[in-house]
Amino acid sequence: MKISFTAAKPGTKDSFVIGLTEGEELSGMAAKLDKDNDGLIARAIAQAPRFSGKKGESLEVSGLPKLSKGRALLVGLGPAKNFTSLTAEAFGGDAVNRLNRGAAASGSIILEACPEGLSAAQTAARVALGARLGAYRFDKYRTKEKPEAKPTLKSLSIVTGSAAAAKKAFAPMDQVAEGVFLTRDLVSEPANVIYPESFASQLKELSALGVKVKILDVPAMKKLGMGALLGVGQGSARGSRLAILHWQGSKSGANAKPLAIVGKGVTFDTGGISIKPAAGMEDMKWDMGGAGVVAGLMRALAGRKAKANVVGICGLVENMPSHKAQRPGDVVTSMSGQTIEVINTDAEGRLVLADALWYVQENFKPRAIVDLATLTGAIIISLGHEHAGLFANDDKLSEQLLAAGKDVEEKLWRMPLGEAYDRAIDSDIADMKNVGNRAGGSITAAQFLQRFIQKNTPWAHLDIAGVAWSSKDKPTVPKGGTGFGVRLLDSMIAEHYES
Ligand code: BES
Ligand code: MN
Ligand code: ZN
Repeated sequence: MKISFTAAKPGTKDSFVIGLTEGEELSGMAAKLDKDNDGLIARAIAQAPRFSGKKGESLEVSGLPKLSKGRALLVGLGPAKNFTSLTAEAFGGDAVNRLNRGAAASGSIILEACPEGLSAAQTAARVALGARLGAYRFDKYRTKEKPEAKPTLKSLSIVTGSAAAAKKAFAPMDQVAEGVFLTRDLVSEPANVIYPESFASQLKELSALGVKVKILDVPAMKKLGMGALLGVGQGSARGSRLAILHWQGSKSGANAKPLAIVGKGVTFDTGGISIKPAAGMEDMKWDMGGAGVVAGLMRALAGRKAKANVVGICGLVENMPSHKAQRPGDVVTSMSGQTIEVINTDAEGRLVLADALWYVQENFKPRAIVDLATLTGAIIISLGHEHAGLFANDDKLSEQLLAAGKDVEEKLWRMPLGEAYDRAIDSDIADMKNVGNRAGGSITAAQFLQRFIQKNTPWAHLDIAGVAWSSKDKPTVPKGGTGFGVRLLDSMIAEHYES
């Protein structure tokens, strides 16, 4: 779908969608279209018993003399005082879906209102971003889809008086959308397609955009002493990998301390010898969601040429049971030198992250670290699918993340850390064990990670198990892999880490 910005009136064959806040009168282009069509749009609104611009309301106006083909739709956006950039995005996503449902080939979006503090150009760009994100589909494996079920919209015009400025504002957002799509693609791909080696080769493609990509294989990681990560992958026929992605866009030079983003990339989590029940196990193809966000974020940063130094690490393993798999009770030595008693082979994500976190600190001395992982089922019990869990040893980093999450509607909820929780993972025979008791399962997992954070390094952990995948469609997030985290981190970096 091609998106463009224009001040021109929609053609007579273009379907169009007009967004109206509660009680808003037709103005600008909407009023022009109304006038061209003998006032039929205003009359339809006046006569409609159920259209006043409330959120969720919509009205189709038929029989417009100047519309030879296609449809005219009005969509309610809710009260003007609640109108934000997120409303504009959701409107864009919703409009695209409506145009597709009406089988339109070309369509226009008309929105005269602007959120407080946003220019007309920025508003139009946000609508376009929403349209782009909402139009995403993962349909490469559907060979028998009926043509009428396929999206029809080939070109979309966002009508605005500031077309050139809107185009300029949209360019970096479009790159962020590309990043989100890379994450969604990786997350939605099945585990026979995406495994550590194939994931790594997809990452290598980012070098075309200027990202430095380094891949460590099993012998390389053995040399570094990554016994925790390697133990998880040892039962699989697919060799483990560690990917290091480096974007050096900072104006203060390539050597300025980077921000580090570390992702759990378990390309399939059977649980290992502590095997999971069959029901729902297919979901564990998206247990690489954290690494997927790292990939998408690096794609976004490089695409929009962010003025920041960021290093992304993906810990890539497949957790399988086999005659080579690690056993409950095994003790492994991590790269940090700390030993871990593996009580439950299904608590594997933290083992992968332990070595990935240590590696990035030893090699990059980052100014701060954010890790993302589909780490615990317990975070879904705590927060459902609305918020990701945020754990942090640093209030400033925590505030930056919380604020960015609100801005892009990838919401976080801060959870506690503390000494008493940490006691739960003390082991009788090693430095620690990889699970606590059932109590506070997400917190003891975070405590485990914190044992691999060096002194004075600001660190935050995002448990995204409840938000990496969506089973229902939302205007800008179709069901499937969500890409949650890409926009959040991109926004935080734009706000606080660019120079
Ligand atoms: N990948 C899972 C967590 C998960 C569960 C992600 C559901 C997405 C949806 C993780 O590796 C895991 O198995 N965690 C265990 C930990 C337990 C053994 C302490 C869990 O949450 O049950
Ligand atoms: Mn597991
Ligand atoms: Zn897992």
